[in-house]
Amino acid sequence: MRTQYCGNLNASFIDQEVELCGWVHRRRDHGGVIFIDLRDREGLIQVVYDPDLEEVFAQAEQVRNEFVLRIKGRVRARPEGTVNPDLPTGEVEVLGLELEVLNKSDTPPFQLDEHENVSEEIRLRYRYVDLRRPEMLERIQMRSKVTRILRNYLDDNGFMDIETPMLTKATPEGARDYLVPSRTHPGQFFALPQSPQLFKQLLMMSGMDRYYQVVRCFRDEDLRADRQPEFTQVDIEASFIDEDDLMNLMEEMIRQVIGEVLGKQLPNPFPRMSYAEAVQRFGSDRPDLRCPLELVDVADLMQDVEFKVFSGPAKDPDGRVAAICLPNGCELSRKDIDAYTKYVGIYGAKGLAYIKVNELAQGREGLRSPILKFLPDAAVEQILSRTGAKDGDLIFFGADKAKIVNEALGALRVKLGEERGLMEDEWRPLWVVDFPMFEKDDKSERWNSLHHPFTACKQEHLELLESDPGACDSRAYDMVLNGTEVGGGSIRIHREEVQERVFKLLGIGEEEAEEKFGFLLDALRFGCPPHGGIAFGLDRLVMLMAGASSIRDVMAFPKTQTAACLMTSAPSDVSQEQLRELSIRVRKPQVEEQAS
Ligand code: AMO
Ligand code: AMP
Repeated sequence: MRTQYCGNLNASFIDQEVELCGWVHRRRDHGGVIFIDLRDREGLIQVVYDPDLEEVFAQAEQVRNEFVLRIKGRVRARPEGTVNPDLPTGEVEVLGLELEVLNKSDTPPFQLDEHENVSEEIRLRYRYVDLRRPEMLERIQMRSKVTRILRNYLDDNGFMDIETPMLTKATPEGARDYLVPSRTHPGQFFALPQSPQLFKQLLMMSGMDRYYQVVRCFRDEDLRADRQPEFTQVDIEASFIDEDDLMNLMEEMIRQVIGEVLGKQLPNPFPRMSYAEAVQRFGSDRPDLRCPLELVDVADLMQDVEFKVFSGPAKDPDGRVAAICLPNGCELSRKDIDAYTKYVGIYGAKGLAYIKVNELAQGREGLRSPILKFLPDAAVEQILSRTGAKDGDLIFFGADKAKIVNEALGALRVKLGEERGLMEDEWRPLWVVDFPMFEKDDKSERWNSLHHPFTACKQEHLELLESDPGACDSRAYDMVLNGTEVGGGSIRIHREEVQERVFKLLGIGEEEAEEKFGFLLDALRFGCPPHGGIAFGLDRLVMLMAGASSIRDVMAFPKTQTAACLMTSAPSDVSQEQLRELSIRVRKPQVEEQAS
């Protein structure tokens, strides 16, 4: 139907006749001349209708925004003074000779270039219109390019693309499952995969050696800007490799994709940091290294101070007292500090003490702080020297259980970095390694896997598995890019006996292990090679690369915060007949409340 894409026209086409198809982006009447900006996937071109060509001019008068047209015309240079340097096709325009309306359009729910004035709800409800916006289109195009490069890299490195089932058994990645009722097995359910974890391990046991899949995963969990109930992983597994082999292969893949798509050079190799160091210095296991601010421990200075808020956590083995020094922080107003105090409150912090360092040379006189009176000279001196505070700086403090201090100050350092213009304009990837195998659930006092229960333990810690689980480090690794965890994986357990010990430690009894993972335990007995892998969150990677603030912006059809699709109105009721076939009777929560 067409000879060119609108967006591909340039001066080399001048004097040629072209046929174009696309949408009316905008129609303007200018003193008897009609301009139509015609838009397709590749961009916009200005089409001009001259009143001298009466018939086609009359047709052009009838078209409205978002009509679908096929036009024929002649490319010509734009008259002097009307070249649009902001538009890739801005040197030329098309003199319209023929026009066919392929389809009309109702007035769209919002003008494409006025999308900022409409709610995300409207954008999601009319997603097909929203996706016409050049910005959205570019992101979807980038996503496609990223996927292609990743696939090519994996293909070139001997990884085989293998599909795994969507209707399957629960895979424990820490979220709730999406369940699918079975008609043929009344009362029984499939689970949609939280990841293909067990299947990819089984593929290693099958001798496939290197596997990958660009695969949808389903997790029923609390949603955030970087989480969706269904999302895409680039899932990878390989046999007969160790951590170094895998990390080297994977960081090269990420270097290539960012190099090719964005023209940015990432460091080679990526730095590696232990989990313990990441948490200590940055309060987070996914530190944003673009921000220079770090947490500084001061608990040892606060043991005996008269301020219980500090001395309590300082003496508590699970507590932490830490400081962050903000260069030129004296500029902050009372209001700013209150706002930051409120911000850390989200993470459970009960306050945000601070010292303004006006002038070091003046000793205590040069400091301003609501807590100064509690701090002896020696402590003040140490705080100043450890944080390296200079005149004009401000030191923030967090004191509480370590978890709260880490989360609160970890988030604060990034926020300060962003709001105070301290973030480096660079790509700062790193590997976080040496994760603990387990963490204790505060409430149930049970051990949980930090990664997943199939992650191998460091060989040298294997004997501590039962005696001191908290001291066992795993062979897991996370790839972190500018403060986002883009991928995570591990070397796996490949011996049945070890897998059983780990299940036991996690409180998974023999019977439950057999019922849930019997097939895995069986397979481990029939010649399982050492193996390991990783999964990248494709949506997160593309979000970062596109500079988007939410993964919703890089997914064609995302769901809302409440895991619903506004366009199709899913989830929705189903017919009684369907329910009967599935042997399901629905109890709506309301009815339940009345009953109880
Ligand atoms: P993990 O659970 O760390 O590991 O997931 C791997 C990567 O997937 C992305 N991700 C998500 N992206 C969007 N929405 C979500 N709800 C979501 N959850 C996770 C993250 C994360 O780094 N089977 C293991 C991998 C392995 O061990 O090989 C797994 O799924 O970017
Ligand atoms: P208060 O004695 O409660 O008025 O607190 C004095 C100062 O300590 C205020 O600046 C509070 O914001 C701060 N503060 C209170 N609790 C904490 C805490 N857990 N961590 C850090 N600072 C705190």
